[in-house]
Amino acid sequence: MCALRNTELQQQREASVARGMGSVMAAFAHAADGATLVDADGRRYLDFASGISVMNLGHGHPDVVAAMHRQVDLLINSGGPVMMPDVYVELCSRLCALAPVPKPAKALLVNSGAEAVENAVKIVRHATGRPAIISFHNSFHGRTLMAMSLTGKVHPYKQNFGPYATEVYQAPYPYAYHDQTTDESLDALQALFASQVPPDRVAGVIVEPVQGEGGFVVPPPDFLPRLAALLRELDIPLIADEIQSGMARTGELFAVTHFGVEPDLVLLAKTLGGGLPLAAVVGRAELMDAPAPGGLGGTFGGNPVACAAALAVLEVIERDGICARARQVGEVAIRRMQAMQERHACIGDVRGIGAMTAMELVHNRSSREPAPALAAAVLREAHARGLALLRAGLYDNVIRLLMPLTIGDDELTAGLDIVEQSLEAAIAADQAVAARSAHGN
Ligand SMILES: Cc1ncc(COP(=O)(O)O)c(C=O)c1O
Repeated sequence: MCALRNTELQQQREASVARGMGSVMAAFAHAADGATLVDADGRRYLDFASGISVMNLGHGHPDVVAAMHRQVDLLINSGGPVMMPDVYVELCSRLCALAPVPKPAKALLVNSGAEAVENAVKIVRHATGRPAIISFHNSFHGRTLMAMSLTGKVHPYKQNFGPYATEVYQAPYPYAYHDQTTDESLDALQALFASQVPPDRVAGVIVEPVQGEGGFVVPPPDFLPRLAALLRELDIPLIADEIQSGMARTGELFAVTHFGVEPDLVLLAKTLGGGLPLAAVVGRAELMDAPAPGGLGGTFGGNPVACAAALAVLEVIERDGICARARQVGEVAIRRMQAMQERHACIGDVRGIGAMTAMELVHNRSSREPAPALAAAVLREAHARGLALLRAGLYDNVIRLLMPLTIGDDELTAGLDIVEQSLEAAIAADQAVAARSAHGN
């Protein structure tokens, strides 16, 4: 057990940790195993957050941990810019072979998702000699200046953090539940080319194949193929940000595979390092090689322990059929949420792809008005019942499920039971408040 308990840690946190570093749960993580998190008081939680899809293989996966231990004894850091670690090269070769990008491909390793986004922008700008980048409404690309500027959600990511990076433009992302179609999105993109920035000034378009923070929005099947075809015609590189949707989460190693497109660049992070900070930009060699030596990289990018972990993660995903398991887990979750939807009018939409599943909470199905307070109450109830659970969405009204893909059937059922109980408790509390206010007290 930790020397400090939750209440003491909370006091110290308030005194010493910047407020902007928020956490969804009030407890403090001390240990973890498989699909279980243990807090500083020794309380156990089923983990339906996986560190926001970082621990897709579960906590403490023996093969990943063993790879980390082996590498710690061999080499912790030589500095990529000094003497590149052997495992850095090995991992890049593996990623180039696996990534659904036009071959020959090359890769760059960095520390975080946001850093991958920043580097992708640098690469396409250098390669094309053009300044503009287009992203989508409702997107999330990270918290650094460029990544934040590309992000399509103001609060809390952009609020009061301006001025934003220049030469960023945004188009609507298709969102079936809110009647935003592929045609409308692509028409708006064409209008952007006519009214805001000509295609020959656009260095790249960055898109999440499935939006993550935006609320697990799965685009219609024709969106990415039509977007890719349009960009090919205009000679504009397509960057697929798979930082949340990649690494088997959607039931394929790469989410774009579902849509049959080959982006020019693909970005990975989160589960890639098995819990250690690691991200990758993998792309068409011609683009990736544009910047001169020294123009990319950094002190820590491609740390050997993280690279060794990543090689193990990729091996386990393939060897243990983790993509197939993601599809099974997702089917169970979707069925369960659909059953809840039949009973509860506040569940406007149940959606997902593979094990990237969610339900959108609304005040009523005809208005589709977001119900963020209800979603917050569901999370509070879930945390109190021992389930780590997250929400998402432009209006924070989407309950998203991100359990480890290695979760056992019993744990999956137990977690979904808690989701349902939490929803019912939140609805009951909401109705009690409504009844009290109707009676004027
Ligand atoms: C799609 C996407 N892009 C980029 C990021 C930023 O990654 P990081 O938090 O590692 O900087 C995230 C993080 O959630 C993400 O979901």
